[in-house]
Amino acid sequence: MNIVRKIGVFGSLFTLGLFAMVTPEGKTAFYFEDAKEVNAAISKLVGTKPDAKAIAELAKKYSLDELMHVYKFRNKGGLGVGETPGAITPDGIEAKLQGLQKKEADKADLSKNGKAYATMGEVSLILADLSEAHTPKEKKGEKDPKKWKEFVEKMRKGSNELIAASSKGDSKALKSAAKTLNDSCVECHGIFRD
Ligand code: HEC
Repeated sequence: MNIVRKIGVFGSLFTLGLFAMVTPEGKTAFYFEDAKEVNAAISKLVGTKPDAKAIAELAKKYSLDELMHVYKFRNKGGLGVGETPGAITPDGIEAKLQGLQKKEADKADLSKNGKAYATMGEVSLILADLSEAHTPKEKKGEKDPKKWKEFVEKMRKGSNELIAASSKGDSKALKSAAKTLNDSCVECHGIFRD
């Protein structure tokens, strides 16, 4: 084999490599790396009362969109529900909240998964802090920072209620807490999410 042919083979492999990096799959892989980083940073704060500095740093490093990605399904890069992937379905916090506010969880479900549901509240307390750090600076039409703060407070209230109800194993309170928390998402998105 002459050298020109060798270079030819090597050259096309090189081109293929470059090509793979710019395909949509390449971009997805990169996005997931980012999501992993966000998940790890938020998981570290879950269950703690983070100081303002830790929140401000995280809020500066990531956009609100990137931070809220924790709510997506685990297989879409979100945190998921519980420790074991797929053990609790749906395995995404946003989808699980929507389910819990519709139908009262039965006792068996609550005693088995209560800890995971409390963690969804803990995650949302951190997200409320991060959302507060992302409060819009000025009023633009309907998008009033005052409203934003109200939604953040509602998010905190629903989160705290969810933690309490899950720990007590109170199905009725859990349903109503999930509704308060889910309403805060829907109401804020209705006004502020383009
Ligand atoms: C105070 C306002 C506010 C609250 C409360 C809020 N969100 Fe959001 N959320 C936003 C905004 C604004 C965006 C879009 C950010 C952007 O596009 O830059 C967003 C984006 C998202 C996204 C998209 C992330 C992605 O990957 O693109 C998800 C998922 C999400 N929110 C879930 C939730 C859930 C679940 C709750 C409640 C538990 C919630 N949000 C509460 C304001 C809020």
